Amino acid sequence: MEPIPVSRPSVGEEELAAVRKVFASGWLGLGADVLEFEEAISQFLGASNVVCTNTGTTALHLALETLGIGPGDEVLVPSFTFVATVQAISATGARPVFCDIREEDLNLDVEDARRRLTPETRAILPVHYRGIPCDMDELQELAGERDLHIVEDAAHAFGSSYGGRPIGSFGEMACFSFDPIKNITCGEGGAVVFRDNGLLERIQQKRILGIDKDTWSRYRNERSWFYDVVTQGYRYHMSNISAAIGLVQIRKFGAMNRRKIEVARRYDEAFGDMDGVEILGNRDYEGIGLFAYMMRVRSHRNELIDFLAGRGVGSGVHYIPSHLFSYYRREGLVLPVTEQIYREIISLPLFPDITDEEVERVILQVSSGLRDLA
Ligand SMILES: Cc1ncc(COP(=O)(O)O)c(C=O)c1O
Repeated sequence: MEPIPVSRPSVGEEELAAVRKVFASGWLGLGADVLEFEEAISQFLGASNVVCTNTGTTALHLALETLGIGPGDEVLVPSFTFVATVQAISATGARPVFCDIREEDLNLDVEDARRRLTPETRAILPVHYRGIPCDMDELQELAGERDLHIVEDAAHAFGSSYGGRPIGSFGEMACFSFDPIKNITCGEGGAVVFRDNGLLERIQQKRILGIDKDTWSRYRNERSWFYDVVTQGYRYHMSNISAAIGLVQIRKFGAMNRRKIEVARRYDEAFGDMDGVEILGNRDYEGIGLFAYMMRVRSHRNELIDFLAGRGVGSGVHYIPSHLFSYYRREGLVLPVTEQIYREIISLPLFPDITDEEVERVILQVSSGLRDLA
């Protein structure tokens, strides 16, 4: 029997055909397909401005830098996230200030964030963990009181809504990731989505080495030799190859997400009453673009991962809290909920093409592992 990975992208002939078309055009880099993908995202989310990047990490870095965040500034961020979120902050020279999460949804604890405000605090970087939106009303209230920026890390939340509005359609700035295991993939890719039209040109320039060259000529796949450089920038743009994959994926999002939610509901049903396990909240998945399936196991989490690996079932830990890494360790910092969740969390296989037989195999192996290890 084939091992079941914890995640696998759902890509095939349609994506290949789209990439073939880009090959035939001879224009592989930033060009017309990227523009088309940006327009598709904008329509899908109802977002004002979309700038696509080569990763979600670079989208976050670009967003923070464009807002002028840098040395001497502090950014409030949950420690319980992929370290990419935090690296994007430290890349600007600003200091990540780690906050705890709430048990109910494993998202940023806004009250804890409030306690960590200082005169240097400039921004909040909440993460919509596994696609479940943060409490944006509470966050916007806090940001409003202190005139802070909010840059949402929406890497997990493509297709999720908050209060009936898509993530990316109503906040100041949100950054998406289209890496291989995200809700939709471009192979690798990301996007900065934002409200302020005045920032569009600056973000476009910064993503391609500060070059002020008329974007339209690139978007029309035309080459002209003259350009000026007007600001510090990076080589962070998306390629036509990635965008072509993304354009197929965005059309498939609904079906892929429905299947993931169907499987998540089956897991919830199977694990809901099982001893030693706690399934996470938000079980109707209404309005959720679901990234992954995580649950809590009360004890022997690491042994369960080994047990499953030995039986061909992939699992993982998302995430090691950032404040526990050598580079980010802070003397005396204890985040009780984050550290407790880190000991208990496990991610189980969830991807659009998982078969019913594989799902039942996961359930069987998890329950026999829990029984053996109890
Ligand atoms: C929460 C979170 N933020 C940011 C990122 C960075 O995205 P990317 O892998 O596209 O750079 C990821 C992806 O791994 C993520 O899970």
